[in-house]
Amino acid sequence: MQTSMQACLIGSDHSLYWGDWEKPTCGPDELLVRIYATAVNRADLLQKRGKYPVPQGASPILGLEMAGTVEEVGANVVNWQVGERVAALLSGGGYAQYVVIPQAMAIQIPDQLSLEQAAGIPEVFLTAYLNAFKLGGLQAGERILVHAAASGVGTAAVQLAKAAGARVYATAGTDEKAEAVRRLGADCVMNYHHQSFKDRIQQETNEQGVQLILDPVGASYWKDNLDSLAFDGRLVLYGTLGGSKIESFDLMAAMLKRIHIMGSTLRGLPQTRKAALTADFVEWAMPMFKSGQLQPIIDSVWDAEEVNEAHVQMERNANIGKLIILTP
Ligand SMILES: NC(=O)c1ccc[n+]([C@@H]2O[C@H](COP(=O)([O-])OP(=O)(O)OC[C@H]3O[C@@H](n4cnc5c(N)ncnc54)[C@H](OP(=O)(O)O)[C@@H]3O)[C@@H](O)[C@H]2O)c1
Repeated sequence: MQTSMQACLIGSDHSLYWGDWEKPTCGPDELLVRIYATAVNRADLLQKRGKYPVPQGASPILGLEMAGTVEEVGANVVNWQVGERVAALLSGGGYAQYVVIPQAMAIQIPDQLSLEQAAGIPEVFLTAYLNAFKLGGLQAGERILVHAAASGVGTAAVQLAKAAGARVYATAGTDEKAEAVRRLGADCVMNYHHQSFKDRIQQETNEQGVQLILDPVGASYWKDNLDSLAFDGRLVLYGTLGGSKIESFDLMAAMLKRIHIMGSTLRGLPQTRKAALTADFVEWAMPMFKSGQLQPIIDSVWDAEEVNEAHVQMERNANIGKLIILTP
């Protein structure tokens, strides 16, 4: 039996290369998957530089999601057969030829989607789903502001919020990105380099503000976010692209508006919560992928040998949606 596989390893200069690694073995409640494609996430860029600690028990190999075919089925696994197409959120190990996943994390891929497309679903759609609904409590008819809306998570959040019947306001950093977000159904899109999102939100909402903001930017948006929220508004902070430290801030503003501020990380959630989130997401969202109402937005697909170039694309903020990497 084959005991090694190809996985993407990290060189001393943080560049990536494919080399030999131990092939994982399938436990009784797990599936062994031959990975066809994985996708780039911001966490990968930090992790390869030693700036994102790998959670306890997770594979040190990069990769938070994948799509492939089932190669082996654990003794206790029901409902899965060898050869079936499967996608999953991972706590690591996606940049490799094989991975084992708990059956509770396995997502059946609808016929309408390719494996490349499916590899772009788990991390960003589950993050957006968690933030918009489980934490953010988004309801039909509410107003939501999605920042970095052309990002992987942003393109998922815009679609999920529209599917739930919300009115979607969105920011993006170029006119091309803004246009792409408009095509996803956002009602009002702002290029934040050309206008203040706070002023536009005030204008567009008759100074009422939005009920929910999903924000991966953090410090540099903090004040304008609070000014853009309605009374009783909710802010879900899930990234710090614009910094993590606020120099001075008067907490009265948050108190008087009765703002709810929530932090969110998907990767660090206990496995049981990730499995429950996956189950809820599959039930609610997968039928919409089947019907074509939801779609993973794929910026580009890269061969295994082009993995470093794919990372540069994300580092340059050049992608609209997901960067997919094929495995060897
Ligand atoms: N907490 C979690 O569970 C979780 C899960 C997934 C992702 N994340 C985080 O969410 C963020 C988005 O992830 P992703 O994979 O969707 O990213 P992505 O596709 O790489 O897109 C990120 C985009 O954010 C915008 N941006 C970057 N720096 C900015 C700044 N200083 N101010 C405003 N906008 C900025 C850029 O677009 P523009 O050109 O529009 O500025 C960039 O393309 C990352 O920070 C990631 O670490 C968190």
